[in-house]
Amino acid sequence: MGDRETGPYGPAVDETFLRGIPKAELHVHIEGTLEPEMMFGLARRNGVALAYASVEEAREAYDFADFQSFLDLYYEGMKVLLHERDFQDLTLAYLQKAAGQGVRHAEIFFDPQAHTDRGVPFETAITGIRKALVEGGRRMGLSSRLILCFLRHLSADEAMRTLQEALPYKGWISAVGLDSSEVGHPPKEFKEVFAEAARHGFLSVAHAGEEGPPEYIRQALDDLGAARIDHGVRCMEDSTLVERLREEQVPLTVCPLSNVRLRCFPSMQEHPAKRMLDEGLCVTVNCDDPAYFGGYVAENYAALREGLGFDRDNFRAVAENSFRASFLDETEKERRLHEVASYFEDQRGETAQPPGTASSRPPQI
Ligand code: HPA
Ligand code: ZN
Repeated sequence: MGDRETGPYGPAVDETFLRGIPKAELHVHIEGTLEPEMMFGLARRNGVALAYASVEEAREAYDFADFQSFLDLYYEGMKVLLHERDFQDLTLAYLQKAAGQGVRHAEIFFDPQAHTDRGVPFETAITGIRKALVEGGRRMGLSSRLILCFLRHLSADEAMRTLQEALPYKGWISAVGLDSSEVGHPPKEFKEVFAEAARHGFLSVAHAGEEGPPEYIRQALDDLGAARIDHGVRCMEDSTLVERLREEQVPLTVCPLSNVRLRCFPSMQEHPAKRMLDEGLCVTVNCDDPAYFGGYVAENYAALREGLGFDRDNFRAVAENSFRASFLDETEKERRLHEVASYFEDQRGETAQPPGTASSRPPQI
């Protein structure tokens, strides 16, 4: 307790407080939650040879020169995911970790093409993930949504075929997204795919303005109808765009540790998250690929405190934004916003529901 009263960041923003903040996670790739320990466990279980001799060697390899060097290891690592049970174990491990960090609601990306292209059926991946999401709702009171991401380094035709494959599972998927290598693969190339997805009732989001220019953010909004922009940090290079994002309160799912590890910014001190908040943008804080970038959502909160001096008001803003920007219905949003308010209004944050505790109402999934 003393730490909270006297710590260098002022009262009540120590690690325990940050972990306890009720929050939604809106930008996490389930394949990016594959910790080396689990990678080795699944490699053994499935008889898959890995490129690393040990867990330590894998971690050492996670020193990325650039975005592509990360993607290479990300696609390499997921080769151990073969059976429904693997996807289920992976997802459940993430949910347990997230629930212990105050996550009440998670909107999770998956990359079906990264699995179907190596012979793992769409059904295998989605069924395993779905089973874990249902179990997470039941056991941890954690609500969730699933977002199917198209790999933008592959063609729009391949994305369209993936969308067709997803249709029988429409009830399990809330939205479509766009990820993988951004530069040279502008959102507008996927306009027809997203229009078709919208006709089938999917919402949409898109990675834009992480490595790519501000123009890609505009395209994601105008050509894909994105309800949120994943990353979006390069919007700060274009004041007209910033004005629009503020006016329309377009949510930006920012992932600070990812941005620094992938060298979008040389250090956390130079990350624009604080300036974005000060501009009145709807910033949320997320973990992206936590097994590869050194931390889950609470570690991202802590990095903002240490690197940019985020204070209680900043943390309250990003936590509230996370629920506002989610795909929860209005009643659930209100309930969660109320939970955030009561957490912050109690100086010590001890009256709110502890992380991982089942809620009094049935989980919404
Ligand atoms: N950006 C784009 N594609 C990705 C990422 C990311 O940060 N993580 C996994 N796929
Ligand atoms: Zn991402």
